Amino acid sequence: MPGEAAPRGGSSTYTHISPRPLCGALGAEIAGIDLSQPLSDEVFAEIEAAFHEHIVLVFPEQDWTPAQQVAFTARFGPVEEHPLRSRPGLPEQPEVLVLVNKPGDRGPRNDFWHSDISFDETPPLGSVLYGLQVPEGYGDTMFCNMVAAYANLSPKLQEVLRPLRALHSAAGLAARNNAGDTNANAIAQVPDPVSHPVVRTHPGSGKLALYVNPWFTQCFEGMTPEESRPLLDFLATQATRPENVYRHRWRQKDVIMWDNRAAMHYAVRDYDENQIRIMHRTTALGDRPV
Ligand code: OGA
Ligand code: MN
Repeated sequence: MPGEAAPRGGSSTYTHISPRPLCGALGAEIAGIDLSQPLSDEVFAEIEAAFHEHIVLVFPEQDWTPAQQVAFTARFGPVEEHPLRSRPGLPEQPEVLVLVNKPGDRGPRNDFWHSDISFDETPPLGSVLYGLQVPEGYGDTMFCNMVAAYANLSPKLQEVLRPLRALHSAAGLAARNNAGDTNANAIAQVPDPVSHPVVRTHPGSGKLALYVNPWFTQCFEGMTPEESRPLLDFLATQATRPENVYRHRWRQKDVIMWDNRAAMHYAVRDYDENQIRIMHRTTALGDRPV
């Protein structure tokens, strides 16, 4: 019905927060909550339920310190440094990654659809990004729903994909960082690729989600990259159809948390080095995908 919240298949009711769906695909905004303060178990349980239901949560007008960002992130899972130290962390809080783009200091590219650190055996369940300074109307971040991407495939293709595994590698990330055209840290040693199920079961919602992405996934296990590419490309195209995407226009002091088990994201790179963009990122460690 026009004007009504699109159903997400979730049945959560909320008494402490009011998640407002942002579009038909995924994403909800939760206003009126101060994440800098410790959250009661009751409030946190509703935020986690909303996270599982909506996959991407936007919290406007937050004002917090790096330590408070870490404390919030840690409610979901252990907060860790980037396994390859891809970017500098704050000196006093190395698990807070700093994304900075400013004159003479070009920020690294994330204009690829990806799920954070999927080349790790235990990738982060979620990432928290805080917009300290954003160029008005530029540097949007896009998200797509990988539960819906799987659900919308034909039953036969779902059946073909279910038993498959795929290899994920940081080789592309290392090449990006080592190109030397941004302030990303060089990566000397690329770890061996890791194998993950192509379709994973979300431990929170029980839903099935596609878990391949164009940035880290190299091939289906047992197939060559050439054999894998057409189907991987097809899945990426389906997953990133406009109907399956939320595009966030950043406001200063937005906090966005996304679920890496159920979404891919893409950082739109339509700004130059004179448009200052400074973000703090933390991640909460997740389980080994099954
Ligand atoms: C990231 C990322 C998106 C952005 O930090 O992992 O993809 O818009 N960032 O900066
Ligand atoms: Mn990312």
